[in-house]
Amino acid sequence: MKLKKLALAATLASFIVGTTAAWSQTTLRIFTGGQQRPDVMRKIADEYEKRTPGVKIAVEVGGATSEAQQQYLNTVLTSKDSALDVVLIDVIRPAQWAAAGWAEPLDAYLGADKAKVMSQYMKAYADANTVNGKVISLPYFADSQFLYYRKDLLAKYKRPVPKTWDELMETSQIIMAGEKNPNLRGFETAGAPIEGTVCTFLVPLWGEGGDMLKNGKLNLDTPEARQPFQLLGRLKQAGVMSPNVGEIVTDRIRINFQAGNLIFAQTWGYVWNRSQNDADSKVKGNVGVAVLPASKTGKSATCIGGWQLAVSAFSKNKAEAVKFVRYLSSPEVSKMQAIAASHLPVFPSVYKDKEVVAANPWFEFAGPIVETARSRPVTPRYQEVSDAIRSNMNAYLSGTKTTDVALGDMKKRLEPVFK
Ligand code: GLC
Repeated sequence: MKLKKLALAATLASFIVGTTAAWSQTTLRIFTGGQQRPDVMRKIADEYEKRTPGVKIAVEVGGATSEAQQQYLNTVLTSKDSALDVVLIDVIRPAQWAAAGWAEPLDAYLGADKAKVMSQYMKAYADANTVNGKVISLPYFADSQFLYYRKDLLAKYKRPVPKTWDELMETSQIIMAGEKNPNLRGFETAGAPIEGTVCTFLVPLWGEGGDMLKNGKLNLDTPEARQPFQLLGRLKQAGVMSPNVGEIVTDRIRINFQAGNLIFAQTWGYVWNRSQNDADSKVKGNVGVAVLPASKTGKSATCIGGWQLAVSAFSKNKAEAVKFVRYLSSPEVSKMQAIAASHLPVFPSVYKDKEVVAANPWFEFAGPIVETARSRPVTPRYQEVSDAIRSNMNAYLSGTKTTDVALGDMKKRLEPVFK
């Protein structure tokens, strides 16, 4: 009798436990772009699920470029859709997200830990994710543009890694003439009307010692503002850059580089891992990464990039979403991403980790570059700013506007934003 009662109690208990678990199951949906390695995100999510009973993670992938992702998100978020809990956003977006009220500020969740948590990150990322004193998102990985080059071709022609754009041009011409491969180009950077093309404009401007803003006001009536057009125009004219540069989106640079069709490329951290590990890569073992060349007068400059984790203001699972975000924004996950995807760490200590350096030998010098990389303008009206720059740079590179017209139109559209 006693035994029977016990057995019944046990069955009941397991029934109750089973159903409560089913009831308390939370599914968090995280949105990421295709370029940010959703496969690696899935592995990280699997690990989190193992450690967090009752939580399942769904990874939603959309948008091939930063602005295509944001266009999709504009639709979801303006309709206050609760479908997404966590969203990966580009480093240029926190100000816009804060102004639109799309991100749940994280201050209350971090509580007394806030200062400690934020001080662990590289300063640029603590700053980029804080808008008017509020933590809008937490960093997932850092990024910056580097000069990728073909070690084998430089060795064959006994050329050093170029320190100036002129050297890059000369070396490209020598190698192209020697290789006689009609598919081989000297250099590529983004030229399509996409987000990456904003950096295509800013890097030579900064490298020449110029800046887009001075005391918060537009500052493009300078000789330095003409440098991006002059430099890229020269590279295109000489055939070092492809005539179709106006069609080049960020991931196309990686594809062309991996196919063995580029000597030099101005691109982001993720390209290293893909060029070393993708089955179709023809350049495995022959890739070098260095700082971008400088102009004769200026210093090497680069654009800061990277991806942040925002909790949607419309999520129905905010507390669970914040816990997941804190895991994703941890040194442990930073290391996993660095090894599996060459995503640059946001924690200075991870750059020195032995396994991380073994997978990415160039991370040894990458930390200080990320730390001194410069930001695209920070403003809630970033979308307009980006569009004014990228569409005019693209028109110049496609041959439909001259320098004067492209720069003039760019200024006309930027002036009202920085009045
Ligand atoms: C990289 C950078 C990002 C940048 C984008 C442009 O993903 O991390 O900040 O905006 O490239 O294509």
